[in-house]
Order: sequence, then C-alpha cells, then structure tokens
Amino acid sequence: MTATEPVDLSVADLHPALGEPALTSMNFLNEVSERYPAAVSLAAGRPYEEFFDLAAVHRHLDTFHRHLVDDLGHRPEQARRLLLQYGRTKGIVHHLIARNLAVDEGITVDPEDVVVTVGCQEAMFLVLRALRAGPTDVLLAVAPTYVGLTGAARLVDLPVWPVAGGSCGIDLADLAAQVRRARAAGLRPRACYLMPDFANPSGVSIDTAHRRRLLDLAAQEDLLLLEDNPYGLFHTDDGPRPPTLKALDTGRRVVYLGSFAKTVLPGARVGYVVADQRVAGPGGRVGPLADQLAMIKSMVTVNTSPIAQAVIGGRLLEHGCSLVAANTRERTAYTRNLRHLVAGLTRHFRDQPDQPDERAVRWTVPAGGFFVVVTVPFPVDDALLDRSARDYGVLWTPMAHFYDDTAPVRALRLSVSAVTPEQIDVGLDRLAALITDELTRRAG
Ligand SMILES: Cc1ncc(COP(=O)(O)O)c(C=O)c1O
Repeated sequence: MTATEPVDLSVADLHPALGEPALTSMNFLNEVSERYPAAVSLAAGRPYEEFFDLAAVHRHLDTFHRHLVDDLGHRPEQARRLLLQYGRTKGIVHHLIARNLAVDEGITVDPEDVVVTVGCQEAMFLVLRALRAGPTDVLLAVAPTYVGLTGAARLVDLPVWPVAGGSCGIDLADLAAQVRRARAAGLRPRACYLMPDFANPSGVSIDTAHRRRLLDLAAQEDLLLLEDNPYGLFHTDDGPRPPTLKALDTGRRVVYLGSFAKTVLPGARVGYVVADQRVAGPGGRVGPLADQLAMIKSMVTVNTSPIAQAVIGGRLLEHGCSLVAANTRERTAYTRNLRHLVAGLTRHFRDQPDQPDERAVRWTVPAGGFFVVVTVPFPVDDALLDRSARDYGVLWTPMAHFYDDTAPVRALRLSVSAVTPEQIDVGLDRLAALITDELTRRAG
C-alpha cells in the first residue's frame, strides 16, 4: 500500500455487535422519520417539546449555583470550578438525587452509592460492563426488551436471555426456569433487567404483591435485579403508585437505573445509577458497586457534564427535590393523550370483539407511561412501516425491534408522548386505513 492510498476497513474486522439489529434499530427508526417529515409520528418516545423552556434552563443553572454558595458554603471560585472544571467522576448532584429518591419514592440511599451518568444509557452500559466478568456470564431480560439495553449488552459481549413478561410484567415461573436452564448449561446469570412501571415497549406494570414475589425469587436464586424506571411518574390514576423494587429491597438485590430525560430534559443527557451492593476489593477493602462503576466511567466519559448536572440540580431544588411536583403539567398531558389514544382505538376497532384473536385488532390499556401496543392479524415489519410512512403518513414502531430474534411479530408500538390529541386523531385515522387496507389485501 502507498502512503496516499485510503484505508478501507471492513465491518467484519470491527466489534461483532456492529451491524446487528440491536445497534442499527434506533438509527433505522430515526432515518424513516427523517425521510417522511410530514408523517404524524406515533413512534417517537420523546417527551413533549412544547414544555421545553430555554429561559428555565438558565434559571436552573443559577439556582444550583446559589445552592452551592448559600447552602453548601462553597466560595465563589470553588462554585465556579465545580461547574466549569473537570469534576468528580460520580457526579455533583448525587445528594439531590438521593433526596429526590427519598421524597418521591421512599428510597433511602447513601449519596455515595449514586453515580450520575450521561443518560440512563451510560448507566446501563457501566453496569453491564462491570457484571460481564467472563464468557459464561449471561443477562436475563424481560421480553420485549428496551433496545438500548440489548445493544449495550451486545457491546460488552453479554448474551441476553429473554424472560417472558406476560400480563403480570414478569413471569416468575419462566424466570426461575431460565435461571436453572442457564446454570444447567454451565452459564452464570448475572442479573435480570426489567421495567416494573409502564415498560417500554409493552406498557405493562407489575403490581406490588408480584414485586415482592420477584424480590423473594431473586434472593432465592441469588440474582441481581436491574430496575429501569424512566416512566414511573406518569401514571394515569390518582391513587398511590406501587413502590419501586428498590424501595422494597432490603437485601441490596436491586441496582436502580434512573433517567432525567422524560422528567426534566433529554438534551441535558443526565441519568444515574444507584449501586449500593458491597464489593470486596484488594486487601479486603469493601466499597459500593458504585465505586467500581465510577472506575469504568472514568475511562468512558470521565465525568457527566457538570453544567448539565447543574440544570437538573436546579430543577430539583426549585421543586423541593420532587419530580412528582415538577411534572404535574407533563403527567396531565400524557394521561390525557393516553386516554385519547385508547378511546380512538376503541372507536376505530370496536366492531370486532367477536373476532377470534388471530383475526382481531387488539390493544393494551396501560395505567400510565407513553406506550400502547396494538396487535394485528398480520406480521408487522420494517417494510410495512416504510409503506405506512410513505403512503399513509403515519409512523409507529414495529414490535419486532424489541425482540432479540427474527421471528415475525404481529404487533406495533404507539407512543403518545410527542404528539397532541389532534395529531393522535390524524395518526389513528391513517393507521386504521393502513390496517383495513392490509386486511383487505390479505383477504383478497
Ligand atoms: C426503558 C428506557 N431506559 C433507558 C432509556 C434511556 O434513557 P436516557 O435518555 O436517560 O439515556 C430509555 C429512553 O427512551 C428508555 O425507554
């Protein structure tokens, strides 16, 4: 080769995860929506943009700065350094996150057990990287699974074993069976990943009694639970929310993953992990798993932007560290949209309750969160999504993207978070036309 000849690399020479569906899924879905900008998007799980407020971001920053000086006693140059210099790997709003968890969730955590991360995505990556110690390690995950988790697991060479979700949110008999199957095959299940509240994509939640049974089973099987909770605050009824697994966790079984993307701002890219599991290090020194995660983080992102953390910290401080209080407007809007979507689906498809399941259109009625799953009598794939966007002007997400195999899936996910009720109406009219045409085409 000459010095001027361009280097051509092959993906076959790069990490084997590159090019796998788990890694290409998000880009594919973004590309489809970019190709059809006029289409109504019932696909995006983004928060509602009209609530974003640039002026509030400046105010949050000032609020946090004042907190550093007035409440924590930092000198002005110290406060300035904390916001603008490289900083503590585990973050600078850990005390406020601990306070938030106490106020909103009844979770008591030592702030030293918290690592503030670049979104929840980094938190998942750090945890999976730490847990994957060798080639026999596997991760269990409730299927369908958030694709960001599957992709992160791929990147650390950790196979993901699906566990049935079912109508309870996690099928405990299947969890026990998978653990035993893995162990019988000489493998080591390190943890089970799940979203107990309004899961993405299924929308299903786990009730309190089932949460307790899950914790008992995890103890019995000596398994960690990775609890991901980005949607828990957006419940539709006014009754008490079920406690998080972490709030019920008396044996440090639960690694709790948090995100401020839906409750504050996705653009801040701030999330966190609570990892209070004790880890014995060299010389018998014992510290929290959080310290080990911080060690990995120091080689990945060094520290989460302190400016971004300050924005989150300021928002927390302005609402007494309660994201429940900070999100009353958001919860109202998402609840309204979820009900509107379900009512619209009922209006469009109510005439078929007598149809057998294999010929009927069915949908879930979640008690909160962003997502409704619609089951249809035909396989739903990327080609159908493309046709839906091009010919009908509506976007949604094929549920196949949330399964880690290639079996056809007859379901799609609708999201209510980034649209208005009027857009939901238009989107549903278009989706109903697509489904009707597809049924006619297949019948003919
Ligand atoms: C279940 C789940 N976990 C994690 C994330 C990622 O959160 P973040 O934006 O904080 O990285 C998302 C984002 O949509 C999600 O749905």
